[in-house]
Amino acid sequence: MDLRPVGRQFFIRTYGCQMNGHDSELMESILLSYGFQPAKSEDTANIIILNTCSVREQAERKAIGRLQRLARRKKSEEDFYFGVTGCMAQNLGLELFHCVPDIDFVIAPRRIHAIGEVLRRLKNGERQIYFPNESVETSENNDVLYRRKVIKASAFVTIANGCNMNCAYCIVPKTRGREICRPMESILHEVQFLVEKGVREVTLGGQIVNFYGVRKIPFKNGKSPFVQLLEKVHSIDGVDRIRFLSPHPSGFRDDLIDCYSNLPKLCPHVHFPIQSGSDRILRAMRRPYTRQMALKILHKLRRNIPLMAISTDLIVGFPGETEEDFRQTEQLFSEVDFDMAFIFKYSLRTGTQAAVMDNQIPEIVSEERNQILLKKLAVTSYRRNRLFIDSRQPVLVEAPSTKDPAVLWGYTPHHKKVFFHGPRKLIGQIADIKISKATTCALSGTLADELV
Ligand code: SAH
Ligand code: SF4
Ligand code: F3S
Repeated sequence: MDLRPVGRQFFIRTYGCQMNGHDSELMESILLSYGFQPAKSEDTANIIILNTCSVREQAERKAIGRLQRLARRKKSEEDFYFGVTGCMAQNLGLELFHCVPDIDFVIAPRRIHAIGEVLRRLKNGERQIYFPNESVETSENNDVLYRRKVIKASAFVTIANGCNMNCAYCIVPKTRGREICRPMESILHEVQFLVEKGVREVTLGGQIVNFYGVRKIPFKNGKSPFVQLLEKVHSIDGVDRIRFLSPHPSGFRDDLIDCYSNLPKLCPHVHFPIQSGSDRILRAMRRPYTRQMALKILHKLRRNIPLMAISTDLIVGFPGETEEDFRQTEQLFSEVDFDMAFIFKYSLRTGTQAAVMDNQIPEIVSEERNQILLKKLAVTSYRRNRLFIDSRQPVLVEAPSTKDPAVLWGYTPHHKKVFFHGPRKLIGQIADIKISKATTCALSGTLADELV
């Protein structure tokens, strides 16, 4: 196929979670294999893809603003194409063509493999191509075929896509569809492929990773299918670090807690989305666990693993959240001493159960609660980060800093970002860093030994 001479430079802008980040990498690999090239910037690109997120209204609003600017650009540039992939493509669907009439394509998350084909068709003169999530055919098993023309030391590996839960506030089940788990063999094959290419850290990803395979794969010696998967990934030579994202507090049982003690490659950090500290609100959110159940898990983890790092997601201002409910969240916040927290103001998502609840909270109240938690977070994250001062940490080096190219950054096993001066050849390696300074969001230090 010949797409020359013009119009082959693409730029992908990614919003949202790591699932979207992974999808963008996948699209990049597909486009490279179709002979397209990455543009240096959005300005020099003639194909622009917005890989979007719908989880909060603001994310959608921003993306629509950008699409409108791109529509203006299309009017003045020949051979220019732009479109939407990701969750908003499924959530708003055809409506997007009405909001921004010049959009060239809208592709839902489960159809992104079609991106190369869609661009080919556009180049052949077709207009306004729309691929919703209707097909059950998914990407995941083909990942390895297309994947990773783009290889970094740390790779995200999808183990499941979609979500069968029913959280009252959340749009993800609509945008990503029912959960589909990838066969274990296919995941292991991909991890093997990645380590052969130099990957040292894998993050196993899905909406709820600890529910992986529960309907199909039997428990073995009390171990869930997810724990069995972790053990298998752990036994692959060349994998140095394992992470996962996100687990659900329900089903975070002792077999998984024990992995942190039994599997040395499993990093001592868990992202544990609690959402609220009030049982009443958790019930209204349809999160099937209590504050006590969540705390019990976290206490066990901190007891078993020295310096176990814990991050979370919290929503403030969910419909009906009273001062007392919020106080419970504040209390939980102080009790756990989070290393990091993503605090969200509740955002009404049309089509979710919470959207029609009649006790919506005024923005000003959510904002106030948001600020209270952010202030607390600044204190706890600084305190937690300071615990690492004077220690030596193995840092998986990711990239030079954007501000100063002589400075590199990477992550410790506890998922602390570390800045230090060092030679570029360390990128992709694990360097030994003596930590000297901490802020609320990162550490810095000096190179003790180049390689661990
Ligand atoms: N599957 C993950 C979360 C995916 S969405 C889990 O269950 O934990 C990421 C985060 O966005 C959620 O944890 C939640 O805190 C937040 N979120 C989702 N819907 C939201 C909404 N309507 N308003 C505000 N925050 C929301
Ligand atoms: Fe959304 Fe709940 Fe599914 Fe997470 S578990 S993606 S919050 S519905
Ligand atoms: Fe956003 Fe979709 Fe992820 S809604 S958070 S990009 S699954």
